[in-house]
Amino acid sequence: MPFTADIKKKELKTAGCGYLRFGCPFGKSEDSTHQIRALPKECFSPPHKPTPMEEYYRKRAQEYESVYYRDDPERQLEQRQLAEEMKQAVKGLKVLEVACGTGYWTQKASETARSILATDAVEEVVAIAKAKDYSCPVEFEKADAYSLPYKGYDAAIANFWISHVPKERLDNFLKGLHATLKPKGTLFMADNNFIEGIGGELLTKEGDRNTYKKRKLKDGTETEVLKNYFTKKELQQLFGEDAEIVYGRCFWAVTLKAGS
Ligand SMILES: C[S@@+](CC[C@H](N)C(=O)[O-])C[C@H]1O[C@@H](n2cnc3c(N)ncnc32)[C@H](O)[C@@H]1O
Repeated sequence: MPFTADIKKKELKTAGCGYLRFGCPFGKSEDSTHQIRALPKECFSPPHKPTPMEEYYRKRAQEYESVYYRDDPERQLEQRQLAEEMKQAVKGLKVLEVACGTGYWTQKASETARSILATDAVEEVVAIAKAKDYSCPVEFEKADAYSLPYKGYDAAIANFWISHVPKERLDNFLKGLHATLKPKGTLFMADNNFIEGIGGELLTKEGDRNTYKKRKLKDGTETEVLKNYFTKKELQQLFGEDAEIVYGRCFWAVTLKAGS
């Protein structure tokens, strides 16, 4: 994340950083007699307080990937088909991945993509992803899916993320995601379908359009996590008539050429 844009003299003074008189990697400060030298990043933006969702994935990082090794042949088959759909969609392209998690899909996408910038808000999952091997150049960055500072990508992928986006934030998230793409860029997304008995009890709340799941981690702690499911019709409405939708028993996948 770039920190330089937020620099304000007052903030720096409040943060106790002061001004340094040496060569400045960022250019001149407001006061031309003083220049800013490399400063601790805490000086430039307030420390980010993890959201409950980020906190949940921070704790779940080490056990997350077990979801991909469930003993269910139909599920495994759909998962392989999903990987093939995605590999086709990103073939030869410069890809931005949002909420990459532990890099499970990054690895698959890297088999055909030209390059990938894989992003997630949680350092603990990115650390696991970083330790893996990839078949194309892959870089990692910490980024919030709701404010993506990227542009000019041929394709964007976001797997098993949109189900965690509150319905009232869907439009903004999708607008932000489209803005990262070149004209006619490709969007690929996949997520779960609701299956009774998998992934915890489904909860609804009065006056709330979102649904939730009660999730238990290996250490016994329970968390309520926002998790929305989409019918094929809802996906078609959300992504438009041109979206190609594969709707299985366990998963759905959408491929969309923006502006097509
Ligand atoms: C269900 S996991 C999906 C991970 C990966 N895409 C996959 O399919 O295996 C959701 C991911 O969203 C990340 N996440 C949570 N809040 C986020 C946010 N505001 N911005 C970006 N990523 C976020 C979590 O750290 C987690 O890795």
